[in-house]
Amino acid sequence: MTVITGLLFLVAAAGSVLGQDLSVPSTWREPENKYNLAQRIATSQNALDSLLPELNETIGYFNVLGYWQGGNVFSAMANEDYVTHLPLYQDVVTTYLNKAFALYADYSTQYNDDALWWATACYYAYRAYGDTNLLSHAVQTWENVKTFQISPQDAASDSIPTKSFPIMGTCDGKTMAGGVFWRPVANDTAVNSVTTGLFLTLSAYLAELTGNCTYTDSAIAAATWMQTLNMNSDGIALDTINANDCSRSPATELFTYNSGKLIEGLSVLSDVTGDESWRDFMTNTVAAAVKTNVWQGANGVITEGGDTEADSDVVGFKDILIRALHEAWRRSAENPEMQNLIKSYTNVQYNALLELASTENLPWRWYSSEWAGPQPTNFTAWGQLAALDVLVSVVDINPTV
Ligand SMILES: *[C@@H]1O[C@H](CO)[C@@H](O)[C@H](O)[C@H]1NC(C)=O
Ligand SMILES: *[C@@H]1O[C@H](CO)[C@@H](O)[C@H](O)[C@H]1NC(C)=O
Ligand SMILES: *[C@@H]1O[C@H](CO)[C@@H](O)[C@H](O)[C@H]1NC(C)=O
Ligand SMILES: *[C@@H]1O[C@H](CO)[C@@H](O)[C@H](O)[C@H]1NC(C)=O
Repeated sequence: MTVITGLLFLVAAAGSVLGQDLSVPSTWREPENKYNLAQRIATSQNALDSLLPELNETIGYFNVLGYWQGGNVFSAMANEDYVTHLPLYQDVVTTYLNKAFALYADYSTQYNDDALWWATACYYAYRAYGDTNLLSHAVQTWENVKTFQISPQDAASDSIPTKSFPIMGTCDGKTMAGGVFWRPVANDTAVNSVTTGLFLTLSAYLAELTGNCTYTDSAIAAATWMQTLNMNSDGIALDTINANDCSRSPATELFTYNSGKLIEGLSVLSDVTGDESWRDFMTNTVAAAVKTNVWQGANGVITEGGDTEADSDVVGFKDILIRALHEAWRRSAENPEMQNLIKSYTNVQYNALLELASTENLPWRWYSSEWAGPQPTNFTAWGQLAALDVLVSVVDINPTV
C-alpha cells in the first residue's frame, strides 16, 4: 500500500512539473479584442502599405531595414494574403523574393539565418499563392544550409566538411548532432538557436508538404538539439553554443525570436510526426514565453527591442514570436485553453500598439518599436516592421466578425 501510494505520488508530481499553467494572467492589460474584422484588416494593410515607399530595387529590400528584416516584411505580406484570401501583395512579394534570390545566391550573405528568413518567406508565399518557383528557392536554400547542420556522422568524427576546425561531437554529454551553424564562413564556431529553429521550421514545413523523410529527419534532429542542449530551466531557449569548445553565450541572452522559431517549428513537427512529445515541448515553450518576465512586465506588453532612435536587429525579434504563436494557435484546435492564452497575449500586444505606441498621421498610422509607449512623433520603418505580425495575426486569431 505504502509503495503504491508512493508511486502514485511520484507520477502525480511528475505530471504537475510537466503540466503548464495555461490560464490568462489577471494582470495582463486588455486581453480582449475590440475591433471588427474589417477594421483589423484595414489596420494591417495600412502598416504593410506604409513600407512600400521604402522599397529599394537596387538592393531588393527596404531602405533603413536590414536584409533579414526585409525578408520578414515579405513574410508578413504573404501571411496577410493567406489569412484574407486575397492576392493583394502577390506581385510585390513575388517580384522581390525573385530579385533577392538573383542578387544573393541561395539568399546567402554573411549568415545562414539570413538565408533562412528569406527561404521561409518563400514558403509562406508558396502557401499563399501556390507559386512553385518560389518554393524551389526555399528548397535550394534549404539544401545549402543543410550542409551546416551537424549530422550524427559529423558528431561521431568531430568534424564537419563546411568548417575548418575540429568540432566537439558532444557538449554536456549530449550529442551536438542537429545543431546548425549560424554563419557559413569556415572558421566561425557558433551554433545557435535562431538558425537551428529556422531550419527546424523550414524542414517541418517542407516535410509536411512533400512527405520527404529527409526533411522530417532534419527537423527532428534540430528539435532534439534544442531540447537537450539549448533550453534554460524556465523553458526559454538559450542563444549560442560554440562547437569548437562547447562554450556558451551568457545565460542572460534570452530573446523572443529564439523561443519563437522553436514554437513555430514544433507546431508543424507535431502535426508531421503525430508525436505528442513535440506538442508537449511546444506547449511548455508557449507558456514559458508568454509568461516570462524576461521580455514583458506584469501587464504582458513586450518590452524587448524598443529602440526609437535607430533600427537594430533586436527591434525585429518580438514580431517573430508573435508570428510563431499564430502558427501554434492555428494548429492547436485540440487545446482551446492554449489557443485562448495565445489569442489573449496577441490582443494585449495589439491593444498596446493601438493605444500606447502609435499615432495616426494620414495616410499612415505610425508605430513605435517601444510597444509600452510613448506614442511616436515620426515614421520609422523599423517601428512599422516590428508591428506587422501582430497586425496580421489579430486578423485571423479573433472571431471572424
Ligand atoms: C538603395 O540602396 C542603396 C544602398 O544602400 C543606396 O545607395 C541607394 O541610394 C538606395 N536607392 C534608393 C532609391 O533609395
Ligand atoms: C575567418 O575567415 C575569414 C574569411 O575566410 C577571415 O577574413 C578571417 O580573418 C578569419 N578569422 C579568423 C579569426 O581566423
Ligand atoms: C527529398 O529531399 C531531398 C532534399 O531536398 C532531396 O535531395 C531528395 O531528392 C528528395 N527525395 C525525393 C524522393 O524527392
Ligand atoms: C522619432 O521619434 C522617436 C520617438 O518616437 C524619437 O526618439 C526620435 O528622436 C525621433 N526622430 C526624429 C528624427 O525626430
